[in-house]
Amino acid sequence: MKSIIQPARAPSIWRAARLLSEGQLVGVPTETVYGLAANAWDAAAVSRVFAVKGRPACNPLIVHLASLDRLADAVALPLPPAQQRWLDPIADLFPGPLTVVLPRNRRIPDVVTAARDTVAVRVPAHPVMHRLLRVCPFPLAAPSANKSACVSPTTAEHVAESLGFSLELILDGGACAWGLESTIVSLAPPQPRVLRPGSVAAELLAERWGLAVDLLCDPRPHAAAPSLEAPGMMALHYAPSTPLQLGPPAGAVPEGQRVGRIAFQRLPAAETAAYAALELLSQTGDLSEVAHGLFAALRRLDRLGLDRIVCDTCETTGLGRAIMDRLRRAAADSQPPAQGEK
Ligand code: TXA
Ligand code: MG
Repeated sequence: MKSIIQPARAPSIWRAARLLSEGQLVGVPTETVYGLAANAWDAAAVSRVFAVKGRPACNPLIVHLASLDRLADAVALPLPPAQQRWLDPIADLFPGPLTVVLPRNRRIPDVVTAARDTVAVRVPAHPVMHRLLRVCPFPLAAPSANKSACVSPTTAEHVAESLGFSLELILDGGACAWGLESTIVSLAPPQPRVLRPGSVAAELLAERWGLAVDLLCDPRPHAAAPSLEAPGMMALHYAPSTPLQLGPPAGAVPEGQRVGRIAFQRLPAAETAAYAALELLSQTGDLSEVAHGLFAALRRLDRLGLDRIVCDTCETTGLGRAIMDRLRRAAADSQPPAQGEK
């Protein structure tokens, strides 16, 4: 039987473009995580994305473009002057792991944006996705290619594991360089706001805009427009099925328990012996290595039938902000009840 995973070369990229133009879905690599792509102008194809993922219809999709020159394929132009003023100082970050929420145009069907008047757009830097977008005469709506609320895929095999049964083709572009989803920013007045921390550090954006990072990342609902929040950012998300505890581990591993450990740097030998499985993401605590390997490590440990996974933590600055955001969501359902609670 021919594998649905195909190395991304000219013929498979053309085949992907043909399948997409016929309304089919294709698994695609990006520099952040793998996506489940559909023609963003084809409402029926986009509806299938929601069905295949089991995604609530209220959670809109990101539209991927070949370049910022194709903004008119999804966005109402010209932009309001205030939004253009916020976009200009970050325009050089495209292509890259950054998504901006802008006013939507009428070519994008309601199903993509959950009937919002905004659309999230991004220009991926991955060479395969870039080539695919250049040969498609339409933009691509693509969420992460996992079942809704599960861990995002960072290899073609992860996509096959999660969604292979409903796809004819997954383009294999290797392991994703960043390994965490894009940073999402809204440019709506009164000022830009980070809706989802990601691989582009909030500190960099704050510097470009001359704003305080805390203001940019304020987790409270937006006073001027509470509906701005990225609806996909509910508490439990990106979650493995094994309970996840954020470290450092309190005391020794109890007798008879099988515990997996995700470490951000080398552990003393005496400590490693206690774990049924160890995933060492970086020798030195390098956060880009941690981000790159984190989702794959969660998936591997999740397959081992462990009682629990214990994972290191890091400071919530730079890339650490996105790493800790994903880990807190992944652990949201696993925290032991607070003292006094049953
Ligand atoms: O790195 C990424 O962004 C990956 C790759 C495949 O591009 N995509 C991705 O898509 O993470 P997804 O669907 O897993 O997450 C998209 C997020 C959701 O939290 C969604 O609510 C938010 O983007 N979003 C989409 N459109 C929006 C809009 N108009 N306003 C606010 N949030 C929006
Ligand atoms: Mg996702």
